Amino acid sequence: MKIDFNHMLVQTIGEHGIEEQDIQKMALKIPQIHQNMCAKKDAMAWRSLPYNQAAVVADIKKEAERINAGFENFVVLGIGGSALGSKALFTGIKHLKYNELPREKRGGVRFYVVDNVDPDGINALFDVIDVKKTCFHVITKSGNTVETMSQFMIVLGKLKEALGDRFQENIILTTDKEKGILKKISNQYGFKTFTVPDGVGGRFSVLCPVGLLSAAVLNIDIEALFAGAQEMDEACTKENLWENPAYMYALLYCAAMKKGANISVMMPYADGLLNMAEWYAQLWAESLGKRYGNDGSIVNKGQTPVRALGVTDQHSQIQLYTEGPFDKVIAFIDVEKFHTELKIPQAPIDMQDASYLQGQTINKLIASEMRATEYAVTQAGKMNMRITLSEMNAKEIGALFFFLEMATAAAGEFLEIDAFDQPGVEAGKIATFALMGRDGYEEKAAELNQASQK
Ligand code: PA5
Repeated sequence: MKIDFNHMLVQTIGEHGIEEQDIQKMALKIPQIHQNMCAKKDAMAWRSLPYNQAAVVADIKKEAERINAGFENFVVLGIGGSALGSKALFTGIKHLKYNELPREKRGGVRFYVVDNVDPDGINALFDVIDVKKTCFHVITKSGNTVETMSQFMIVLGKLKEALGDRFQENIILTTDKEKGILKKISNQYGFKTFTVPDGVGGRFSVLCPVGLLSAAVLNIDIEALFAGAQEMDEACTKENLWENPAYMYALLYCAAMKKGANISVMMPYADGLLNMAEWYAQLWAESLGKRYGNDGSIVNKGQTPVRALGVTDQHSQIQLYTEGPFDKVIAFIDVEKFHTELKIPQAPIDMQDASYLQGQTINKLIASEMRATEYAVTQAGKMNMRITLSEMNAKEIGALFFFLEMATAAAGEFLEIDAFDQPGVEAGKIATFALMGRDGYEEKAAELNQASQK
C-alpha cells in the first residue's frame, strides 16, 4: 500500500493547500501525541488484535468449516461497527457476484449482512434463503442493540417454526464477555459464542471475531489480513511524522479542518471498495464527531465523511468537487492490479470516433479516469490525496483497515477529543428503547412524548 499526500500541499495545489508552516506548527504536537498513543496502547485493545487472536482464530476456523460443511447460507445480523467490517471484507476481497456463483466456484456458503430494520429488506432475505439451511451470526458488543435484537427475535421465530427445538446449531453469537442481554441468552441456552475483547469498540472490531468469522467462512486468508495490519502497525507506531503515515494523515486532515474543509470524501476506484468507504465513514464520523473536548469544554469537532465511487460519481459529484467550495479533502483509492484484465475488442460494427478504444483495456480506462479526475481537482486547487493498493487482497485490506484506525486515533489526539466513545449514538439508542416501551425508560418516553407535542 502506498500513500501520496502531495496534493494536500500549497506547493502543488496553490493557496487552498496546507502550508509548510501549518505542518511545522502542528508537528510540534507530535511528541505529546506520540506519548499519548503509546500510553493508551493497552486501552486501545484493537491495536493488539493483529497479534493476539491466534487461539480464537483456530476456533473460528473450526466453526467456519462446520458452517461451510453444513449450511447453504451465512447471515450476519448486526449494525454499525458490528456489520460494516464484514461488508468491507466481503466485497473488498471476494467475487463481486459471489452469491450468484455456483457453489463449487464460491467454495462455501452464500453470504449476507442484515444491518437495517427495513421490513422489506429483512423479508426479502427470507424470500431467498431457507432458514433451516442458514447459519446466523448475531453480533452486538453491548448485547442490547434494538435493531440486532429484533432481527434475532424474528430469526428465532422462523427457526423455531422450521426446526422445532433443534435450532441451536443455526445460531452463533458474538458479544461482550459479561454484559448485555445477548450474553445472558448465551449462558442460558448455550449457543456457540465468541467474545468481543475488552477495549475493542464496535468500529474498531473488524480484526476480532466480529469480522473474522465472516472472513473465515468466506475463506479469506486471516493470516494475510493480520500480516498487512502488522506491517502497517510498524509504520504507524514510529514517532517521526515523516515516517508515520497515520500521523501525517491525521495532521493534514486536521490542518484541512482548520482551513474549513469539513468534508472528507473517500472515493475508491473499484466497486468492491465502496463498502470500505462506508466502513471509513462510520469510523471517521463516529470517532471524531464530538460535542465535548477532553477538558469538558464544548468544541463541536468533526469532519463529515462522504463515500463516492470512481468512476460512477465522476458523472454526479465531481462537478461539485472540482468547481464548488474549498470545503473538502478527497482521498482517492487506486488499485494497481484488478483480479481481471478486460480487453475492449475490435468491434464487429463501424464504431467511428469511438474506435480509438479498440484493443485497449477497461483496466487502463479506469486508471486513466482516476488520473484525469485527480488532475482536474488538483488543477482546481482542491486538496486531495491518493492511497494505492497493489491488489484487492487480504494483506492490502488488512493494512488499509489498520492505517485508517491508527489515523483516526491520532486525529482524536490532534482534536483533543475522545475518539472511542459515541454519546450521540447512545442517546439515540436510549430514545428508541423509550419509544419501544422498554422497562426502565418511562421517564425518557414521557419526555419524548412531550417534545413531540410541542
Ligand atoms: O462503533 C460503535 O461502537 C457502534 O457503531 C456500534 O458498533 C453500533 O452501535 C452497534 O453496537 P453493538 O455492537 O453494541 O450492537
